[in-house]
Amino acid sequence: MGKIIGVLTSGGDTPGSNAAIRALGKAAISNYGMQLIGFRDGFRGLMENHLVSLDNKMLSGILTLGGTILGTSREKPFSMNVNGKEKDMTNVIVENYHKNGLDALVCIGGNGTQKNAWHLAQQGLNIITLPKTIDNDVAGTDMTFGFDTAMGIATEAIDRLHSTASSHHRIIIVEIMGHKAGWLALGAGVAGGADVILIPEIPYHIEKIAESILERKAQGKSFSIIAIAEGAISQDFNIMYSELKEKIGKSKDEKTRKKLKQEREELDVLNTSNTIRLANRLQELTHLEARITILGHLQRGGVPSAADRLLATRLGTACAKFIQKEEFGVMIALKKNKILAVPLADVVGKTKKVPPGHQWIKSARRVGTCFGD
Ligand code: F6P
Repeated sequence: MGKIIGVLTSGGDTPGSNAAIRALGKAAISNYGMQLIGFRDGFRGLMENHLVSLDNKMLSGILTLGGTILGTSREKPFSMNVNGKEKDMTNVIVENYHKNGLDALVCIGGNGTQKNAWHLAQQGLNIITLPKTIDNDVAGTDMTFGFDTAMGIATEAIDRLHSTASSHHRIIIVEIMGHKAGWLALGAGVAGGADVILIPEIPYHIEKIAESILERKAQGKSFSIIAIAEGAISQDFNIMYSELKEKIGKSKDEKTRKKLKQEREELDVLNTSNTIRLANRLQELTHLEARITILGHLQRGGVPSAADRLLATRLGTACAKFIQKEEFGVMIALKKNKILAVPLADVVGKTKKVPPGHQWIKSARRVGTCFGD
């Protein structure tokens, strides 16, 4: 008898998710005679036993579809909304895993999903994960699928913003997703030729940005495009974050830690309007008009790029092979163009940030891009 495999997608929907489900399913069914069960809406589906049998027919025609045919949610096994209250539903999930006779569960998602999957692995379940997120911030893999598609969409947006910025002699600030990492803004910013790129890894000084815009103006270029990552922070905010981090590290009692963590969350909320503050301040400093474009969920929508379909197919088919070999507690990753399994313990709790000396940053600086530092 072939193994019975469960699969779910969790966290923000990502182009390439269906390509990964298809690849896993087709390889598992045809190469190893396995059976595939899909759980709806992430870990919630496993808790509610809301499932669908994924046979060859179901897996057909989904390679090019955006989103996820299984649905998704950000629900955590240990903190689920049950009748309006947050409850630890780990036991119910473990029970349903066994009730369905699962030999393994494949969790497809970003950093949150890796953490939730690891939690279930620690309960003794056979867990294997695939890294999917447009943010490309999962540790242990060179690339996550979804990133290439989102980078393409953001690059096209920058291309289109060029003509309107140039016609009106304006500053256009385009806010790009990426959570606390700058991969998307950096990649799209370099590919789209943004004049200024602001990422969380390099806190910015508004005055330095204004200086570079005025320098461009002096050279006869009366418009500028700024690609800003949603998590980018100014130097002032960086100081406040660092001080809070230090205080949290030093605080001994739980009550103070809780209060400080709350303060950090409040700072996060305040930072969500940094693009607006940046636009207002740049208008004052440069006397140029500034406009903002927030790309938001556009970046997660639509058809996956060829590169994402390819990566998702490589990861999904390899996943079936690792299940057959019974290698669990791992994430299937891309490293130096090879697909391999990395221990989940090495992935969880980390965020893959852009290293300050990264090649993309170096190349951008060489063509005169300002990073606000
Ligand atoms: O993790 C993917 C992502 O799109 C981030 O870039 C962004 O910060 C977040 O999800 C938005 O989440 P939601 O769709 O839940 O608002």
